[in-house]
Amino acid sequence: MDIHRIGIVGAGQMGNGIAHVCALAGYDVVMTDISQDSLDKARAIIDGNLERQVSREKISKADKDTAMGRISSTLKLSDLGDTDLVIEAATERETVKTAIFEDLVPHLKPTTILTSNTSSISITRLASRTDRPEKFMGFHFMNPVPVMQLVELIRGIATDKETFDACLGVVDRLGKTAATAEDFPAFIVNRILMPMINEAVYTLYEGVGNVNSIDQAMKLGTNHPMGPLELADFIGLDTCLAIMNVLHDGLADTKYRPCPLLTKYVEAGWLGRKTNRGFYDYRGDMPVPTR
Ligand SMILES: NC(=O)c1ccc[n+]([C@@H]2O[C@H](COP(=O)([O-])OP(=O)(O)OC[C@H]3O[C@@H](n4cnc5c(N)ncnc54)[C@H](O)[C@@H]3O)[C@@H](O)[C@H]2O)c1
Repeated sequence: MDIHRIGIVGAGQMGNGIAHVCALAGYDVVMTDISQDSLDKARAIIDGNLERQVSREKISKADKDTAMGRISSTLKLSDLGDTDLVIEAATERETVKTAIFEDLVPHLKPTTILTSNTSSISITRLASRTDRPEKFMGFHFMNPVPVMQLVELIRGIATDKETFDACLGVVDRLGKTAATAEDFPAFIVNRILMPMINEAVYTLYEGVGNVNSIDQAMKLGTNHPMGPLELADFIGLDTCLAIMNVLHDGLADTKYRPCPLLTKYVEAGWLGRKTNRGFYDYRGDMPVPTR
């Protein structure tokens, strides 16, 4: 099926990145959020990120202006009615996502493909809360979306071939590469990455190292471009905790228990870069470790 118009639900760090790459690839994009502030910030961030691409001569000024012109934003889910594909990128909480799908579905065309950018939640279970499980799948971008090459495509138990092929076509048009994952908790990337981040938090919690030594050790000792605690701040500690909880509940194995220190940071509202404080404090000129 042909995809021309894409709806994005949730205009946070992932939603704005997805809107950016879709508009640049020539799709019309409608972004929605519950917060006008998030929608305004998303537009400003997309504008700034496109401008950076212009200054690096990756795109022209005309490409930027055309892409910005393709993006509209709205607080009303019903404005996504004429989209061909919806990518849900709201907060990583199952109740939030199922409520969105329940509210959204009555407005959609029967042919609209529904997808979720969830990092970990069962695609099959989310699909079962909609009227179109065969037209539902996981469309998992990596952060930051304009930079990262991979998209994980996750088929639910009922996803049909036409839907999968249409999403694969979108990934191709975005100039990205797809990896196909089966629908088990946290799929491939986060099944492997998140236990490593959680273990880094345990290493901090048990006093084996401090924030600096843990990140330094993993950067210089294993050639990771970012340390695990820096990466956790970048992803969002609430998202990291939510993914660990999905692994723990979904696989029923104590090896996935979230570190109590990770829970503590989330309880404090220290969610990483998006709140200016996490394992590092970003309020000054340079990030300062908080432990
Ligand atoms: N952060 C990452 O590195 C990363 C990577 C891949 C996938 N994801 C997934 O992407 C999704 C979004 O993550 P994020 O990092 O962009 O989070 P975020 O906190 O930056 O943004 C979430 C946005 O969702 C909005 N929202 C909440 N409830 C809503 C509702 N009912 N309707 C519409 N909008 C609503 C919020 O206002 C906010 O703007 C999550 O499912 C997450 O697991 C995140």
